[in-house]
Amino acid sequence: MAETLKVAMPKGRIYKKASALFREAGLPIPEEVDESRKLVIPLPELGMEFILAKPVDVPTFVEYGAADIGIVGKDVMMEENRDVYELLDLGIARCRMSVIGLPDWKPGIQQRVATKYPNVASQYFREQGQQVEVIKLNGSIELAPLIGLSDRIVDMVETGQTLRENGLVEMNSIFEITSRLVANRVSYRMKNGQIQSLCDRLQKVISASE
Ligand code: PRP
Repeated sequence: MAETLKVAMPKGRIYKKASALFREAGLPIPEEVDESRKLVIPLPELGMEFILAKPVDVPTFVEYGAADIGIVGKDVMMEENRDVYELLDLGIARCRMSVIGLPDWKPGIQQRVATKYPNVASQYFREQGQQVEVIKLNGSIELAPLIGLSDRIVDMVETGQTLRENGLVEMNSIFEITSRLVANRVSYRMKNGQIQSLCDRLQKVISASE
């Protein structure tokens, strides 16, 4: 009997898209899992166990082997820089990482940038040769330029609605974001059959939708 595959799933907006993809791939995740507040969900009929983690923590659980595989956005991959093996671009939760500011922004003396992604932002501005002070926030990043905390932000843009409703503009796109399937390096060897067969199923759905 194959060992249970521990899958770290990100709670929140990616979860719905990821579980829909699993279902399309012929893995019938019961509907009640979507609404559950349980954090560890055994799925014995699929040979899996879901671990519902905060998205930013998924690569940490996978790197340490607390989960064999996980689903994580490219934004988190770039920011956390964890030692995990990227298996598949799932093509879901598509958006981009961008520099955003007020429409009348001009380079000035105060060069503060607020973001949930301090590593990504620091690296980007270093590469651009711009000296900035990066301020870490945990959410509602768009507030920062509106109330004078920073002159620009680095954040995700999906539909652009948050920008528009707050009178901000996208200045540069830094990279495209989609969700990735990642694996712990040891699990990838030890549970290769199970992981590979999941990848094959998911890949079929992804290729069909391209
Ligand atoms: C994210 C991101 C933007 C918004 C972009 O925030 O930080 O604020 O979504 O999406 P849009 O382009 O479709 O408007 P999230 O909703 O995750 O909440 P947060 O403010 O807590 O980061």
